[in-house]
Amino acid sequence: MAIPIMIDTDPGIDDAAAISIALTHPVLDLKMITTVHGNVNIHKTTSNALQLKAFFNSDVPIHQGVATPLINQPVDAEHVHGETGMAGFEFPQADYDLLTSDKAVEAMKETLLNSDESITLVPIGPLTNIALLLRTYPEVSRQIKEIVLMGGSAGRGNVTPAAEFNIYCDPEAADIVFNSHIPITMVGLDVARGASLTYEAINKLQEKNQTSHMLYHMFNHYRGDQFGDGIAVYDAYTILYLLYPEKFSVADANVKIELTGTYTKGETVVNFDEETTNAKVVLSVDKSQFITMFFEALSYAK
Ligand code: RIB
Ligand code: CA
Repeated sequence: MAIPIMIDTDPGIDDAAAISIALTHPVLDLKMITTVHGNVNIHKTTSNALQLKAFFNSDVPIHQGVATPLINQPVDAEHVHGETGMAGFEFPQADYDLLTSDKAVEAMKETLLNSDESITLVPIGPLTNIALLLRTYPEVSRQIKEIVLMGGSAGRGNVTPAAEFNIYCDPEAADIVFNSHIPITMVGLDVARGASLTYEAINKLQEKNQTSHMLYHMFNHYRGDQFGDGIAVYDAYTILYLLYPEKFSVADANVKIELTGTYTKGETVVNFDEETTNAKVVLSVDKSQFITMFFEALSYAK
């Protein structure tokens, strides 16, 4: 039985890897893609999502979401993902006839309330759309099976020593989500730090198929966190967790979002010793299996 999911995303090179798997893998039933500000501005994240939809000739609806965080001014990560947000591969110009709406929050609400099964939300960008959804339409909570999100860290951040990018962009939105009482699985920076996508594996992508060729060229332009032997394709770990949960180690924790610290705003303060928990925190993946899982997950793509 396929897992019904909705992806909220700020493509983003690592988002593109996650979306490539989610659009083509038979175990995932992707109901919609919603876009959010983040790695690049909302116009570029939406354009990138449309280009991926066209690349895969997908009929999955795309809805544009919000352009700015709840309170903060927008930031971006063009220095990581390039000026377009998906540097390294030339897609045909985005076809805006493929954009279903610019009302992501309303679209999520309608799909959730009209679904005959609960749906897993998979945010892989800042949490602004998700926070607005939960605050504007709290009745949707009963239709959300769980929120499996890329964000945060049980250790150091990647934008500041304390904060990870998705949470840093909109800490107030993250605070709303982590206090929603909806089951949350937090796939933070920690997982990738233990098992990067190695340069050897990236080179093997070059001519496997059209999708791996596209990702190969983008990964070679990715300027995100690099570890000795490879790069951190953070968002892809979130999708792989959905496909191979047994290969990941997880711990229950109480996660609070720092909202006022001068140097720590956006930190996920992860307490494994508190009795009251609000999230499962993914700590690591079986390093010996990660690359195999990544290639297997991509094997359904064109
Ligand atoms: O910190 C990594 C996260 O920030 C990833 O989702 C990446 O795409 C950026 O959004
Ligand atoms: Ca992302």
